[in-house]
Amino acid sequence: MRSYSIILCSLLVLLTNNVIAEESKNVELLAASCAACHGTRGHSEGGLPSLAGMERLYIIEQMTQFTNGTRPATVMQHHASGYSAEEVELLANFFAKQ
Ligand code: HEC
Repeated sequence: MRSYSIILCSLLVLLTNNVIAEESKNVELLAASCAACHGTRGHSEGGLPSLAGMERLYIIEQMTQFTNGTRPATVMQHHASGYSAEEVELLANFFAKQ
């Protein structure tokens, strides 16, 4: 019984790790579409703002404002509106950690 629960525990840990790995792979894919303008992993080398290290809540707020038009933008209203609230949250977490 004891060894059975150890196996079960290890399996759970393995599964959780896979889910986390999967999620970070997905967010990297999402973030790749921002790289053309905001640089790799948000480290901008051009004139555009670096998203790397930006405040998580600030990113979410800007993305929401681009989407609903409260913040006028040249291109971001198109880019922001293509993402669900969940994806924006993942992106914000990702860039804030860079
Ligand atoms: C085609 C180029 C382009 C792409 C791709 C792009 N952006 Fe932007 N981004 C801009 C520009 C230009 C601005 C300045 C606002 C404007 O004029 O649209 C901006 C502004 C922002 C801002 C506000 C920065 C600040 O200092 O307030 C955030 C946050 C942002 N982008 C996030 C993203 C995210 C997240 C992605 C990927 C999902 C992305 N952008 C993809 C060009 C781009």
